[in-house]
Amino acid sequence: MILKTKRLQKHFGGIYALNNCDLNIRKNEITAIIGPNGSGKSTLFNVISKILKKDKGKIIFNGMDIDNKKDYELASKGISRTFQEVRLFKNLTIMDHIDIAISKDDESILRSLTKKVNRTERIKEILDVVGLNKPIDTFASDLSYGQRKLLDLAMAIAKPGDLLMLDEPVAGVNPKLRKKIKDIIRSLHKKGKTILIIEHDMNFVMDLAGHVIVMNAGKVIAQGRPKDIQNNPDVLNIYLGD
Ligand SMILES: Nc1ncnc2c1ncn2[C@@H]1O[C@H](COP(=O)(O)OP(=O)(O)O)[C@@H](O)[C@H]1O
Ligand SMILES: [Mg+2]
Repeated sequence: MILKTKRLQKHFGGIYALNNCDLNIRKNEITAIIGPNGSGKSTLFNVISKILKKDKGKIIFNGMDIDNKKDYELASKGISRTFQEVRLFKNLTIMDHIDIAISKDDESILRSLTKKVNRTERIKEILDVVGLNKPIDTFASDLSYGQRKLLDLAMAIAKPGDLLMLDEPVAGVNPKLRKKIKDIIRSLHKKGKTILIIEHDMNFVMDLAGHVIVMNAGKVIAQGRPKDIQNNPDVLNIYLGD
């Protein structure tokens, strides 16, 4: 297991966004987390990546309790993520954004960068992986919604992490770009990344994920292979009620 959570809890006032959430994420697999709006999926990512402080429970990454690690330390420990609501600096360029992401890297990567690999070349390589074909001096404010999603993804993979957590990478994205993003996820997986993807739309993950975890009201209510999940009556129930 690359990541485990045990009885993870997070509340906002009277709302339990995470209510004893137990997860076991296998290394080198694409795992999808699905569930209706408000079921706690993004809160789970925010707590794991230390954007939010948990109330209770444990988070174990690569066998290590990450309780005392800060978010930037986590980046160097091998967890990187994208955001459901992409947040970019509109007055900074594509290159600036990836530079910021890379500078959170661990030392070994920094050393190899300054040693031989030209920074601009590295940035172009990363943009190639996500297929963002815009000049690197383009300002974030001049990118379309879909291009912003791609830049967010580029920033996440700029770091050397093993675990890539994607929060609704295709939400609001057109069908052509959805397919492209699916292909990118598949190729990152082939290169050895463990992928944890949140998606609201069950259909998107059916031919992508090896394992599907269903959340409702802050906890895991079902999990298994995509085709088993698809026919699970509890799952159908919460989706029909959504
Ligand atoms: N920062 C926050 N402040 C207050 N309530 C929040 C905050 N983030 C999430 N919530 C609440 O927690 C619950 C779970 O939200 P979220 O994790 O965003 O669900 P999902 O990503 O599955 O749609 C919702 O009821 C939401 O309104
Ligand atoms: Mg969410």
